[in-house]
Amino acid sequence: MNRPESIQDPAGKLGVLMPGMGAVATTFVAGVEAIKAGLGEPVGSLTQMGTIRLGKRTENRSPLVKDFVPLAGLDQLCFGGWDVFPDDAWTAASEAGVLDDRLLEQLREPLSQIKPMKAVFDREYVRRLEGSHVKGPARKWDLAQQVREDIQRFRSDNGCDRLVMIWCGSTEIFLEADPVHDSLDAFEGAMKRDHPGIAPSMIYAYAALQEGVPYLNGAPNLTVDTPALVELAEERGVPIMGKDFKTGQTLMKTILAPGLKARSLGLRGWFSTNILGNRDGEVLDDPYSFRTKEESKLGVLEYILQPHLNQALYGDIHHKVRINYYPPRGDEKEGWDNIDIFGWLGYPMQIKVDFLCRDSILAAPLVLDLVLLTDLAQRAGWKGVQEWLSFYFKSPQTAPELYPEHDVFIQLMKLKNTLRFLQGEELITHLGQEYYD
Ligand SMILES: NC(=O)c1ccc[n+]([C@@H]2O[C@H](COP(=O)([O-])OP(=O)(O)OC[C@H]3O[C@@H](n4cnc5c(N)ncnc54)[C@H](O)[C@@H]3O)[C@@H](O)[C@H]2O)c1
Repeated sequence: MNRPESIQDPAGKLGVLMPGMGAVATTFVAGVEAIKAGLGEPVGSLTQMGTIRLGKRTENRSPLVKDFVPLAGLDQLCFGGWDVFPDDAWTAASEAGVLDDRLLEQLREPLSQIKPMKAVFDREYVRRLEGSHVKGPARKWDLAQQVREDIQRFRSDNGCDRLVMIWCGSTEIFLEADPVHDSLDAFEGAMKRDHPGIAPSMIYAYAALQEGVPYLNGAPNLTVDTPALVELAEERGVPIMGKDFKTGQTLMKTILAPGLKARSLGLRGWFSTNILGNRDGEVLDDPYSFRTKEESKLGVLEYILQPHLNQALYGDIHHKVRINYYPPRGDEKEGWDNIDIFGWLGYPMQIKVDFLCRDSILAAPLVLDLVLLTDLAQRAGWKGVQEWLSFYFKSPQTAPELYPEHDVFIQLMKLKNTLRFLQGEELITHLGQEYYD
């Protein structure tokens, strides 16, 4: 990625298109409307509430991120999407039960106007869902053309200057990379033959990229993490990034594990289990969808601790992750971690974490930041995989020859240095020798 000579102005309307308008999507949209109406603060959003240090520590320059880089404002956003249920965003938000009724009542007007378009859906890929608000039956190729028409219609009906698509839909069954994902030609041929390697999420992504719309993947689905769709993103000059929002338990893991590693403390095992009762939990109760999530959650420790570089400390780790669907909890997940560590001379110790979190409350600010920063990347002329946005993902997409960086602190440094680079500011290395010369 080169430094752009100029960044296109963020003026005009930015449309946010979401395949999947369930708990995360509606909590995000309702949150933006609430913030605009002065009913809440964008807590958890780095772009809105975070600061960025510029120059030397003695310069005392630390503006808000949103005042440093030219981002679209919240009042420039407009929302749309697709779902297998026809409920408008107000009804879907009420069903999701994340936000309280009093707040939702005050947001009834803007939310009830957002009605999902008919989804591209196939139960083969999400077995625990059954919805009637779907397109087809039609060939995968034809479904992609229909989504392209939806995008064009949304753009013109709402007078959008730019669009970003972000997958907030369910986790699909685990799909291995297949030769049909190896090139754009193979991918398009497979769509025309209705090949099972083409999941519904890929059809949305293909349509978005063909329309010049960046695509972000909030679930662990394979989708754009394939040579075919990377090729299309490069060809069409659009940014892409995924996979799987880094919230709850995995966020805690990528905060704690770098700390243990920093102190050269050893690890014998990490057992993570949690209960959640929302629709996401129900979908993940299906072993085929859970497999996709499990892959995404298990990778982080290996990459952070690098056992191949330090056998003595991390060579024999037992890492287990369990998700249990437990309806009484709704969106208010509880995640327990038991961490078996060891210190000086191998003496064992334990850490217990009990995180009573709210899944969609943690995810909504990530959706906002990702939309705004990806729109920025697009206006800066950046295309393809945006690895600097790894900060937001459990399973960050990278160039094929790279391992993903999971340490949240390295990810944050990478993100902030990318913004400094973009704006022609000095990169911060934390060397700090100059203060003592
Ligand atoms: N909440 C979090 O903290 C978090 C973290 C990481 C990832 N995620 C992922 O984000 C996604 C959304 O989570 P959620 O809690 O909002 O789930 P949800 O079940 O409330 O919403 C998902 C919505 O997607 C719809 N859907 C499924 N397949 C679709 C398709 N092909 N086209 C259009 N709509 C489709 C469903 O009908 C549902 O309304 C899930 O994949 C979840 O695993 C969530």
